[in-house]
Amino acid sequence: MDDHFNYQNKQLHVEQVALADIAALHGTPCYVYSRAALTSGFRQFSDALQGREHLICYAVKANSNLAILNVFARLGAGFDIVSGGELQRVLAAGGDARKVVFSGVGKTVAEMRLALEANILCFNVESAAELDRLNEVADSMGKVAAISLRVNPDVDAKTHPYISTGLKQNKFGVAYTEAVALYRKAHAMPNLRITGMDCHIGSQLIETSPFIAAVEKILLLVDALSSEGIALEHLDLGGGLGICYQDETPPAITDYIAALLGALQGRTQKLILEPGRVLVGNAGVLLTRVEYIKPGEEKNFAIVDAAMNDLMRPALYDAYHGIKPVVREDHAVQNYEIVGPICETGDFIGHARELAIAPQSLLAVMSAGAYGMSMSSNYNTRPRAAEVMVDGDKVHLVRERETVQQLFAGEKIIAGL
Ligand code: LLP
Repeated sequence: MDDHFNYQNKQLHVEQVALADIAALHGTPCYVYSRAALTSGFRQFSDALQGREHLICYAVKANSNLAILNVFARLGAGFDIVSGGELQRVLAAGGDARKVVFSGVGKTVAEMRLALEANILCFNVESAAELDRLNEVADSMGKVAAISLRVNPDVDAKTHPYISTGLKQNKFGVAYTEAVALYRKAHAMPNLRITGMDCHIGSQLIETSPFIAAVEKILLLVDALSSEGIALEHLDLGGGLGICYQDETPPAITDYIAALLGALQGRTQKLILEPGRVLVGNAGVLLTRVEYIKPGEEKNFAIVDAAMNDLMRPALYDAYHGIKPVVREDHAVQNYEIVGPICETGDFIGHARELAIAPQSLLAVMSAGAYGMSMSSNYNTRPRAAEVMVDGDKVHLVRERETVQQLFAGEKIIAGL
């Protein structure tokens, strides 16, 4: 996807637009997405899956901007949601509720109602208690809820512990050993209809083998159910395919799909996938400006106007993001800590980067399209960044920069104190 972010005459471009022009137009910090990159990622999935009944449910949590959801909806995507809020975003963006799967361990009654009202495709149920609740809610609405059980296959995804989800000790899914019994229980519930099985073992996986290990375990359960007369219409293998942030070498989308299809040989169920990061991660950058250069006794700091509230991944996971100059300028190359203005030592964007920069230089924080804006906050009363989508030579503002007034609009001083 690097094809969409390139230097032309010392200027970093997104498709045909210079990032410096976007900064001049919309200010910084600002997230910038490439429509072509989004489209190309999605097409790689759909091309690789041609000839196989499938549904690609983009994991909304990776980046839930309406414009991004709309691009995917137009390409025929379904959506993997984890809250009622995400469902409302999908609908507002023109997504089809009948292509929505609803994951998450803590679905509330209100969220279940909303999803049943909208006639979503399937609830990915994560516990016995959730089966009971969903059956009751569906009953109260005179509906039947389509369900799949999210099975925890107990395989090691070999990724960061905070984003590993398929191990016994994780809170996700139903225990592998209890899955068949829970399917029997669901089978007996009048307001539930079993349609599938799903699993999601973690995020930013850079090897294929854990996915395959999970599929193999899941298929054993599928067979056990089928011998009891419980047939499944679909298999949802979750998301999790990693991207290159630094020097990782994740499998290409086509190779990942080929491996999955290999493991699924002879299986006729519709295949659902829930990719998030791989569709948007390298389709976006965070544009930021150097405010100050602060030479230190041990380290030089470049203080930029983006911070951990805009991009939390470095602070939270010690994640690496490439940092590139937006314009190749003739300054001395120095080693910098790239930090934000927030009052926390954890507020950094990158450590020890060799860069030729000065105050006012613009930087592009790379691979920031996934879990960047969607995890942002207002810490330090910082309005959230603007978001822009580039399409060829066109620049679309797809989210206005927040104002400080919006941040405290819902707050009140207690009268009569
Ligand atoms: N399906 C389910 C049920 C999930 O929990 C997730 C991600 C996905 C699909 C999409 O996974 P992906 O294809 O994006 O790996 N904030 C972290 C990542 C958290 C992922 C949570 N679940 C980060 O910035 O790395």
